[in-house]
Amino acid sequence: MPALSSSAPGKVILFGEHAVVYGQPAIAVPITEVAAKAIITPDPVATSGAIHITAPLINLDANYTDLPNEDPIAAAIRATLTALNVDQPPAFKLRVTSTIPVASGLGSGAAVSVAIIRAVSAFLGNPLPDQDVSALAFEVEKLHHGTPSGIDNTVITYNAAVYYIKGKPIEKIHIAKPFGLVIADTGISTPTKETVADVRRLWESDPDPYNKIFDSIGKLAVAARSTIEEGNNVALGPLMNENHELLQKLDVSSPDLDKLVLAAREAGALGAKLSGGGRGGNIIALAAEGHADEIKTAVEAAGARNAFITTVK
Ligand code: PMV
Repeated sequence: MPALSSSAPGKVILFGEHAVVYGQPAIAVPITEVAAKAIITPDPVATSGAIHITAPLINLDANYTDLPNEDPIAAAIRATLTALNVDQPPAFKLRVTSTIPVASGLGSGAAVSVAIIRAVSAFLGNPLPDQDVSALAFEVEKLHHGTPSGIDNTVITYNAAVYYIKGKPIEKIHIAKPFGLVIADTGISTPTKETVADVRRLWESDPDPYNKIFDSIGKLAVAARSTIEEGNNVALGPLMNENHELLQKLDVSSPDLDKLVLAAREAGALGAKLSGGGRGGNIIALAAEGHADEIKTAVEAAGARNAFITTVK
């Protein structure tokens, strides 16, 4: 049997992170410039059931059975075997690679899970449908996030722009007119689990003002959806700026994120905000046609560890 591989894109959240955990809508799009890949090679000389995993990015080189239960790669394999009722799979080697920065709001955890679930289920001769892939990746996301909304596994599995409300069927968004985004990394990785837990603490200590902030963020996502579907991209900028201010109120921005957001706006971005869990990770800036390069140069000068341009389409 030849080697088999599966890959999954990264993602950014355009609107609605954190509020989405509390039932508000959010919008996310796949980012295909970065991806996670799972490659499976049969291991005919090993005993049945043996699985060896390498993931150079996180220096992992281990047997499946030696990994702790909460290891996300082991969890993705286990979830797939359980879903397919397979106890002793034919022995295989799994290699996981990724160009998605870890803990930076670009969906690296969900992309790795989706790639593994697809590769393992295909290897077992039973490729799972998107709905199941997303549901299994969601179970693994709980290890990364604690109380994930499900937006990452959804946008990454379906590889499409989505309008997402926790627990509701997926709604794909039609991008009427492509738009350019500059994505810039602070170089600081912050586990989403941490910021999600901090926001929860704030909300629990004083629910009313935080419910109002979540509600305002949700309204921005609703407005942004129509704006995107009408192709009125310029109007997205101010909505992104407002969303960033509300995230600052949730205390999930940081001086590094704010600095990149300001640099992008000063370089002519129509709007800019942090994207994902926050505190570190990435910002996204909406570029007017023909201005993406200037914004990229400006955020790099302001200290971005890495910046790239993508077209949302
Ligand atoms: O995985 P990240 O860092 O892009 O964050 C996901 C977005 C949150 O709303 C903060 C958490 C969630 O589960 O939706």
